[in-house]
Amino acid sequence: MLRVDKLSKTYCSKRSEVHAVDEVSFIIPANDIMALIGESGSGKSTIAELIVGLQQATGGEMFWEDKKLSKHHRQQIQYIFQNPDRSLNPLWTVEQLLMEPLRIKKVPKDEARKIVQRNLELVYLPDRLLSSTTRECSGGQKQRIAIARTLALQPKLLIADEITASLDPRTEENMIELLKEIKRETKFSILYITHRIQTIKDFASKILVLRKGQVVEQGAAKQVLSAPQTEYTRQLIQACDYRNFQKGV
Ligand SMILES: Nc1ncnc2c1ncn2[C@@H]1O[C@H](COP(=O)(O)OP(=O)(O)OP(=O)(O)O)[C@@H](O)[C@H]1O
Ligand SMILES: [Mg+2]
Repeated sequence: MLRVDKLSKTYCSKRSEVHAVDEVSFIIPANDIMALIGESGSGKSTIAELIVGLQQATGGEMFWEDKKLSKHHRQQIQYIFQNPDRSLNPLWTVEQLLMEPLRIKKVPKDEARKIVQRNLELVYLPDRLLSSTTRECSGGQKQRIAIARTLALQPKLLIADEITASLDPRTEENMIELLKEIKRETKFSILYITHRIQTIKDFASKILVLRKGQVVEQGAAKQVLSAPQTEYTRQLIQACDYRNFQKGV
């Protein structure tokens, strides 16, 4: 469905050039989950921003169902930011936030209310939150609101960029369970960006490992996790091992 071919992005400033993404290629088929992992600064968010059009590529091409990726295709791609405050207006109530994408799609109000209700249930948020603003919500609740909002838009590709980076590992596990459940009901693909490689073990079918903007390894998730081909991937796996956390290593 999405094919990325030798995608590159160099950020230029007066003093320096940063090769944030360097000839990265991958394919995300329909209804599939790919995890993008790599240390901080390896170019993960830049790839997401290039896909949704928030950044312009300096090289390479992207295709959507064999046609060049365009603005029109991008309506089917939704991006949940690393920081939920970036996508949620703090002055709006949760109800306004969830209704807005439906209003833009001109869904009649009664029907929109029903969809909002259903999406709230899907992300396990209580009704009483509808009249609150996101300032009254926890970090986990905010990311659930962001997910409920994107569900209303029925994306074919959801990009989740470290959506639980600021939350504890338990919340990430819950979030992954939630996405799995939603995916059982609706067909769409996910590009799941994370530092925590272990959490995606039973979630993603494919993993792409990024370092300094380059792909160091990509393949079936089970394969990469059980038999990593590079020392870098091995170190990423080790750094995320919860047993090490518990031992205080
Ligand atoms: N708008 C920008 N202008 C200049 N340089 C940038 C910009 N955005 C990112 N970079 C640089 O590009 C590189 C990749 O950044 P990016 O945010 O894509 O990494 P990341 O893998 O998402 O990191 P993290 O895990 O910390 O979110 C970094 O060296 C970063 O400093
Ligand atoms: Mg990032």
